[in-house]
Amino acid sequence: MPNPYYQDEQVTLLLGDAIEQLRTLPAGSVDCIVTSPPYYKARDYGVDGQYGQEPTARAFVEQMVAVFAEARRVLKDTGTCWINIDESYRNKAALLVPERLIVGLQDDLWWVRNKNVWHKRNAMPEKVTDRLSHKYEHLFMITKQARGYHFDLDAIRKPITEERKRHDRNADLNRHTYAAPGTNHGTGPTSLHRTANPLGSNPGDVWDIPKRPGRHAGKHYATFPIDLPLRCIRAGCPADGVVLDPFSGTGTTGLAALQLGRHYIGIDLDAGSHDLAIADLAKEVIELEIPA
Ligand SMILES: C[S@@+](CC[C@H](N)C(=O)[O-])C[C@H]1O[C@@H](n2cnc3c(N)ncnc32)[C@H](O)[C@@H]1O
Repeated sequence: MPNPYYQDEQVTLLLGDAIEQLRTLPAGSVDCIVTSPPYYKARDYGVDGQYGQEPTARAFVEQMVAVFAEARRVLKDTGTCWINIDESYRNKAALLVPERLIVGLQDDLWWVRNKNVWHKRNAMPEKVTDRLSHKYEHLFMITKQARGYHFDLDAIRKPITEERKRHDRNADLNRHTYAAPGTNHGTGPTSLHRTANPLGSNPGDVWDIPKRPGRHAGKHYATFPIDLPLRCIRAGCPADGVVLDPFSGTGTTGLAALQLGRHYIGIDLDAGSHDLAIADLAKEVIELEIPA
């Protein structure tokens, strides 16, 4: 790996264009990718070669598909790739960028396993009166193979509520059986009531995660809340694995990776963003997770 911008035992930061830097990484060397590319025409990062400024949404998507093709080479066959992307509007038209991207990735032979919705319950109010205000973004989970990729559902289960526990206790547990993991239903002959899995429930594909005030307000505006990469990494990366973010920004994915004891490789075109990341990575825990 030629000249990292920063390197320690757990973290490597590479400075430069995502595709060019990905080319320097060995094939099959990363367990999990968690990233938020620049959104199409959303903001100007002020660096030459930045993505997101292509003349058309179609050209942007082609560029992204090319980035993820290179990322796929670097990803292990058992790896997972999580992509956060939002819609762009031009002349009152939603350009369907996330939809175009996910179709492009599928056409490029990725397996689309989840089209999660990140519901931003505290999204900024919009001054629109001719459409509904926009409250969510997309969080795709794509893989290299249909099965056999690392996915630890138990690590992200939603704890059972006290109310549900009370409900289960009151039910006739002799007649009804607990649904074994991987099945949908109890196995008892007269099973009417289904007790909850004691490990918790599947959190589902709508992630209700509030936006946080930016850690670097005024310097970098496009950070995602650490709760997003924490959940992706818990589920999608084995305990001692390597997490990659090819659009690292202020290193939020890296902070999550370190918090969970994983290794981190971050790529960004902007040295200033890496400097913000390095300052944060030196601290212990800087943002506590919001419970599911
Ligand atoms: C949406 S931000 C990522 C923010 C990050 N998730 C965080 O929480 O800080 C997108 C990043 O992509 C970087 N970027 C834009 N074009 C790039 C390119 N061609 N290669 C690598 N990075 C690029 C920008 O500098 C920006 O930091």
